[in-house]
Amino acid sequence: MAHVSDLIAADIGAYLRQHEHKSLLRFITCGSVDDGKSTLIGRLLYEAKMLFEDQLAAVEADSRKWGTQGAAIDFALLVDGLAAEREQGITIDVAYRYFSTDRRKFIVADTPGHEQYTRNMITGASTADAAVILVDARKGVLTQTRRHSHLVGLIGIRKVVLAVNKMDLVGYDADLFDRITGEYLEFARRIGLGEVTAIPLSALAGDNMLAPSAHTPWYRGPTLMGWLETVEKDDSRQQQGPLRLPVQWVNRPDHSFRGFAGSIAGGSVRPGDRVRVLPSGRQTQVARVIGPDGDLPRAVAGQSVTLTLADEVDVSRGDLLSSADSPPEVADQFEATVVWMADEPMYPGRPYLLKIGTRTVNATVTEPKYRVNVNTLEHLAAKQLELNEIGVVNLSLDRPVAFDAYRDNRDTGGFILIDRMSNATVGAGMLHFALRRAHNIHLQHVDVDKAARAELKGQRPCVLWFTGLSGAGKSAIANLVEKRLLAMGRHTYLLDGDNVRHGLNRDLGFTEADRVENIRRIAEVARLMVDAGLIVLTAFISPFRAERRMARARVGDGEFIEVHVDTPLEVAEARDVKGLYKKARRGELQNFTGIDSPYEPPEQPEMRIDTTALTADEAAEQVIQRLRRAGIVH
Ligand code: ADX
Repeated sequence: MAHVSDLIAADIGAYLRQHEHKSLLRFITCGSVDDGKSTLIGRLLYEAKMLFEDQLAAVEADSRKWGTQGAAIDFALLVDGLAAEREQGITIDVAYRYFSTDRRKFIVADTPGHEQYTRNMITGASTADAAVILVDARKGVLTQTRRHSHLVGLIGIRKVVLAVNKMDLVGYDADLFDRITGEYLEFARRIGLGEVTAIPLSALAGDNMLAPSAHTPWYRGPTLMGWLETVEKDDSRQQQGPLRLPVQWVNRPDHSFRGFAGSIAGGSVRPGDRVRVLPSGRQTQVARVIGPDGDLPRAVAGQSVTLTLADEVDVSRGDLLSSADSPPEVADQFEATVVWMADEPMYPGRPYLLKIGTRTVNATVTEPKYRVNVNTLEHLAAKQLELNEIGVVNLSLDRPVAFDAYRDNRDTGGFILIDRMSNATVGAGMLHFALRRAHNIHLQHVDVDKAARAELKGQRPCVLWFTGLSGAGKSAIANLVEKRLLAMGRHTYLLDGDNVRHGLNRDLGFTEADRVENIRRIAEVARLMVDAGLIVLTAFISPFRAERRMARARVGDGEFIEVHVDTPLEVAEARDVKGLYKKARRGELQNFTGIDSPYEPPEQPEMRIDTTALTADEAAEQVIQRLRRAGIVH
């Protein structure tokens, strides 16, 4: 620091220039209530201020050019001030605080107010280079820690500090620190979080904030300030990619030519480069690259520029200019991760506005493929997404847009969803990939429909969906039901797990993914058969609620009758008709339902059959009675 003071003393102009050229690190702090976030930010601001005051004092002593403004501010008062501001700031989403040290300038996004809301965090994190995730050493890793870490990972922040705070309150216990760190790193690995550095801290006492603490001789890593000052920023990655320039506005800088202005979201551009206009796909050449102070030989991601083009091509606001040889994809259907940020849930089928880059289009969302349990990382079935939930959905837009996968470019692959009535941002998302079917597959209208086909057969079509453990009796009961329906002159078809797995689904095994695909195909086949006017019976374990729900959604209201063949595991295992349970218990069969693969029982099936109380014949009779009540047979 001495050399800095010397520099200030000798040449204040040189000092200010150096300050101007210091790199800027944007970071976010995340933590639960009472983890000490205010204290941590207060400590950083306070220490930085002290650095600054040191320098000012040096200037004053040597040259009397500058004077310090009063005495050094009081740390406790500063923290109180921050906390008070935060309490009052319920209406602000994020407060950005600025500080600077010898080596870097910093903007820290502090998220005041209702901290349980992810919205603030996402807003603060969307531009951040790094994240500081706080945990209280006494509490360890909490749900909130996992949720925030998940979001940090989704947003694509690759540099993360796990700040294990309040070490002074646990006697600077190295074992405890190791336990918390170990648990967190395992979680971080599973969610694919980038580089994580764990630091034992006391923001209040100052341990490992600025200088290595004498209380933690067992810790050899960086201090928090040291890490923040030296952590590498990721911008080079975005600058190395292909050119992406979302057009913000079209202007005529000197009334003689048209210019296309925006902030470069990826790559670089020079006069003479070949570019493509998307979504139209037209190609042309860059004539000039104009910055705030005139023509530039080159501009890179992060800079705002105006481009002029060699030809009079049609470009409008919302278009994207890209390098000619690696253009982004253009599509209108995607798979994406969505983080829901509104009190009212995300409803499939409801139209929202979707803003990607500078373009806004209409979008609808399908039923979530799943939502993520942030603690266990399990994929759970979901009809909709609730406040703070993270899920994977398909999106369908009313117009094609140019995009990159979010993992390749945060700006051209990230989007927000906006409520059309209130104009509020209700969701944030990351595009994964375009759905192949987006490439021009449109539904064909046909004149002969379900009603006509059903009428010819004189019946009401439906699906009888039998679900239950292996050996529960699904096939046996379904078989008896079909025989009775046949005897009544009904047109039926029985899709049975063991049979279909020899044909259509021969390529599928018993992993969760394969079972999902198994049931997805069966749901589609059943739907086609209902459309053909048949009474369809399916006998599959179909262990997951999500896929059964999906199957239900594929047919009309009242056309799906879920029959839970509810045989307890012990009973199915004792019967062991195919000897598979014994094999599974011996470890010769992996992923066996009920043993090492889950079964999610139906919550509200149309029918539940207790096979310990009924024979297969009696069960079949009950199903027929249920069909009578539903008016499907007479
Ligand atoms: S599902 O889970 O994808 O719905 P499905 O009903 O098609 O399963 O197939 C289940 C049948 O496959 C069982 O009745 C059993 O005969 C056989 N099977 C073979 N391996 C397994 C396994 N690991 N788990 C469950 N069933 C298995």
